[in-house]
Amino acid sequence: MSTALVILAAGKGTRMNSDIPKVLHPIAQTPMLVHAMRAGAVLAPERTVIVTGHGAEAVAKVATAEDDGTKIAVQDEQLGTAHAVAQAREALKGFKGDVVVLYGDTPFLQPDTLERMIAARAENDLVILGFEATDPARYGRLIMSGGNLDRIVEFKDASDEERAITFCNSGLLACDADTLFSLIDTVGNDNASEEYYLTDVVEIARTRGLKVTAVACDEAQTLGVNSRADLAAADAVFQAHARTELLDLGVTLMAPETVYLAADTVIGRDTVIEPNVVFGPGVTVESGATIRAFSHLEGCHVSRDAIVGPYARLRPGAELAEGARVGNFVEVKNAEIGEGAKVNHLSYIGDASVGSATNIGAGTITCNYDGVMKHRTTIGENVFVGSNTMLVAPVTVGDGAMTATGTVVTRDVEPDALAVARAKQDNKPGYARKLFDMLKAKKARQNKGA
Ligand code: UD1
Ligand code: MG
Repeated sequence: MSTALVILAAGKGTRMNSDIPKVLHPIAQTPMLVHAMRAGAVLAPERTVIVTGHGAEAVAKVATAEDDGTKIAVQDEQLGTAHAVAQAREALKGFKGDVVVLYGDTPFLQPDTLERMIAARAENDLVILGFEATDPARYGRLIMSGGNLDRIVEFKDASDEERAITFCNSGLLACDADTLFSLIDTVGNDNASEEYYLTDVVEIARTRGLKVTAVACDEAQTLGVNSRADLAAADAVFQAHARTELLDLGVTLMAPETVYLAADTVIGRDTVIEPNVVFGPGVTVESGATIRAFSHLEGCHVSRDAIVGPYARLRPGAELAEGARVGNFVEVKNAEIGEGAKVNHLSYIGDASVGSATNIGAGTITCNYDGVMKHRTTIGENVFVGSNTMLVAPVTVGDGAMTATGTVVTRDVEPDALAVARAKQDNKPGYARKLFDMLKAKKARQNKGA
């Protein structure tokens, strides 16, 4: 049976108090919408339709970047969840199979929950995802009779008796596409909110003699984000979960609660992560590496047994080979650091490659930007770059070469050569003493005058 996903993402999210559409706010540095898309991907959907409204263009851009086959349906006016799903009709033209409706702002859905919904479809025409709410608040209530779901009543329209029910609607459903659209066709807006409620399809289905049930999942999976506080809480839940996963995989986190992970962080076993390390998107760290305290990594790859930090910054395109070392106050961007190479102190290595076993002295800078364009620096193997070397790119330093401390390298250095480019030193005997005496006398005169 083929499936299609319809992800509702048109809402404004007023309580986020934001110019950014709600579903683009990130959890673990990944937009909520992308979390929803990834959860849905387990069903290997034949089509994915995102219903956009507020910030439609921005939402479409993120959705198609994640999956370029994604179809976008625009809901110009937010007239309710049934109206939102109806907008997907055009994009689903000719599709035969099940539609699964998700919300773009519920990022914790687990793949097996969707699989259970699809499994329940074997015996039912319509399957709703419900959960036992600790605080049912304003959720829609599921009115069950035995194993059948009779109807869903929205909080605003519910009687006191119905409000006492704690089995609530998550908003997710699974139904054959043709059936779903035919049910939606008869949904009206005669209710407390004057909205077209998707939840009404349950009662309509029952009057047509269709079989409807609810599958339950735990509440954490249906957690929706409506405010910045919800967002922070959701991120905290994600982090706690991701840290536990890493610990189980055999990664040492010295102070787990201080390590911030991205949704796609991959860390090999026997890696040690010291306290206060931040992982941005796109980081992989191989087994046995050490990431020392207060380091910041994004879009980079750290190979086996490499040591990073403390206080290191690896930016996108940083590629550390086995046993490489990047020490304190070093920034690496779009650069390969070869096997066993060392950049241990206070350096910037950008748009560069550093060969294996090369040593980069303290304070070295690849001057990669001329104010308009970026240029590359190529440093060979077994090179010794003296402290405070400025490498003015584009420039190449050959294998086995050396640069003298303080050298400004503006021309290529051939292999095994020593490059020296700095003013000659001149020592003036006794001058320091004279200068000190003069300055002290000046200070004494000033103090007297004051
Ligand atoms: C909805 C359900 C409620 C359920 C709750 C779970 C209905 C009528 N009610 O209520 O039973 O307990 O979710 O969180 O469905 N959206 C659109 N277009 C619209 C309206 C909504 O795209 O015109 C999107 C929103 O962006 C959001 C989702 O649909 O992602 C749910 O809408 P929301 O307004 O939050 O519905 P609730 O009132 O919370
Ligand atoms: Mg809601």
